[in-house]
Amino acid sequence: MKFFIDSANIDDIKEALALGLCDGVTTNPTLVAKTGRPFKAVIDDILALVEGPVSLEVTALDYPTMMKQARELRAYGDQVVVKLPLTKDGLKACKTCFDEGIATNVTLCFSPSQALIAAKAGATFISPFVGRLDDISTDGMSLVEDIVRIYENYDFETQVLAASLRHPQHVVQSALAGAHVGTMPLSVIQQLFQHPLTDIGLQKFMDDWKKVPSA
Ligand code: G3P
Repeated sequence: MKFFIDSANIDDIKEALALGLCDGVTTNPTLVAKTGRPFKAVIDDILALVEGPVSLEVTALDYPTMMKQARELRAYGDQVVVKLPLTKDGLKACKTCFDEGIATNVTLCFSPSQALIAAKAGATFISPFVGRLDDISTDGMSLVEDIVRIYENYDFETQVLAASLRHPQHVVQSALAGAHVGTMPLSVIQQLFQHPLTDIGLQKFMDDWKKVPSA
């Protein structure tokens, strides 16, 4: 499973890269707003740092403006993946992007039926939002499992990008389900390292090492 960092924060992206756990980046308008920086400045910094796919989201709701923004975003570089909402206009734009060779990430997916039509529109990635379904007492991970199965049934090339991952179990369950990509904030990446038995074991090794006589 590829690891994308779900962030527009340059320091967080640098840290994920240093850890070897940044195969790409996903952003959204909320994450860009959190940086307090202009969109162009954020894009320039991310694209200078990262070699893998970088998802940048359109902010228009209508097809013509989405396509204008999609072409503008793609002009920043071949690694740009245009993020489109799962709406009628979004999927129309997805189809046109496919025809024009522009990679897409269809976002805000909350049902298998939405994922099926996104694949038929030629989406490069589909982003099911696991945590937000959990938030409303629905099993978000079963959506990832269903999409993986549907795509395998028909050999769709669309990659399942498990998003809105909030904790390590979401990451593990996404991997077990066969998601191609998991995108997560740096805080979740850092949680993946943690185990109390590692800390306890390491402390014992360090304590015992002090007992080893010097030559
Ligand atoms: O990038 C979209 C998604 O990952 C957002 O996650 O935690 O805001 O639901 P969250």
